[in-house]
Amino acid sequence: MEEGVKLQTKVFKASQLPAAAAALVAGELVSFPTETVYGLGADATNEAAVKKVYQAKGRPSDNPLIVHVADVATVKKYVSNFPETAAKLTAAFWPGSLTLILPLKPGAFSKTVTGGLSTAAFRNPNNQVTLDLIKQVGHPLVGPSANTSGKPSPTLASHVLHDLSGKIAGVVDDGPTGVGLESTVLDLSTATPAILRPGAVTQAQIESVIGPIATNHHQVKADEVPKAPGMKYKHYAPNAQVYITQAKDFEAAVNWAQKKQQPFGLLATDAVLAQFTSLPDNYRFSLGDSIVSASQHLFDGLRHYDQLPEVKLILAQAFPAEGLGVAYMNRLGKSAGQAHFKADR
Ligand code: TXA
Ligand code: MG
Repeated sequence: MEEGVKLQTKVFKASQLPAAAAALVAGELVSFPTETVYGLGADATNEAAVKKVYQAKGRPSDNPLIVHVADVATVKKYVSNFPETAAKLTAAFWPGSLTLILPLKPGAFSKTVTGGLSTAAFRNPNNQVTLDLIKQVGHPLVGPSANTSGKPSPTLASHVLHDLSGKIAGVVDDGPTGVGLESTVLDLSTATPAILRPGAVTQAQIESVIGPIATNHHQVKADEVPKAPGMKYKHYAPNAQVYITQAKDFEAAVNWAQKKQQPFGLLATDAVLAQFTSLPDNYRFSLGDSIVSASQHLFDGLRHYDQLPEVKLILAQAFPAEGLGVAYMNRLGKSAGQAHFKADR
């Protein structure tokens, strides 16, 4: 994309895959669906195309991209070592929400893909339309989440259009994504495998296949060099301040927010929302009734409140940090800057 030139962003149906693939082959950007969130696709072997990804997202260029592949055999072409752990994990979880960091053959991808690292992140998404798209392009696709850098990841094609319309050639619309949170990132390039980003594939599930692993997804300070470069950037932040709120504390939290005499929004399960029917519907965004539905709707809910600029405060429901709840609380924590509502405040 030349500076200042606005593209006509197309919405491709699954039946229009050949047109989407042709745009990618021509070096254009096309957003694709996955089971986690929508990705911003470019041909991973075309450096000029990959550069456009950083431009379109406003993404810092030291933050490397995930390489999306249609099969395990493609990964083996690019890596210097495909360990036994990778063989076991791909057999157990691919296609699916587990991204593996592996050491690369020298020159396997451009520095634009890897951020200058000697490793790359590989993922085999569990979405048939996108697996077909990758096969039609004939090369792996880089795919960061298809949002403006710093904003919540897109779980609907409309989110992609909101952030990137005019900046990309198109988006393949396959409806809402399933999981709603980005994949688990597991580093297999070090002696002890470590989770750099929690996702739907849990630590317990990984350990059941390869034995004990480490976790390394703490909040990174701006001047620290993190293992996953993306960890140091502000993430998922809506315009309003988010407060992480326990289900049992919502009544106290609503009383506290009401005293501020400013519109505020709830992001909570139906059971919690049912206690506050006097609040406007627009300010009661449903996370459904479980950690599964809450994960699906969290980013949509954060984006919902960005459409309501008068809302300066969001009370968002906490879940136990176990299983999928680890990933949910990781994303919610970042969107809130770790701010918690404390019942005794
Ligand atoms: O579910 C997902 O993973 C989505 C969908 C579209 O596939 N993609 C996604 O990509 O979330 P992105 O770029 O938003 O996040 C990739 C994360 C970043 O935190 C990045 O720093 C880290 O993976 N990463 C990528 N390559 C890495 C590497 N070689 N070493 C360490 N971390 C890496
Ligand atoms: Mg992202």
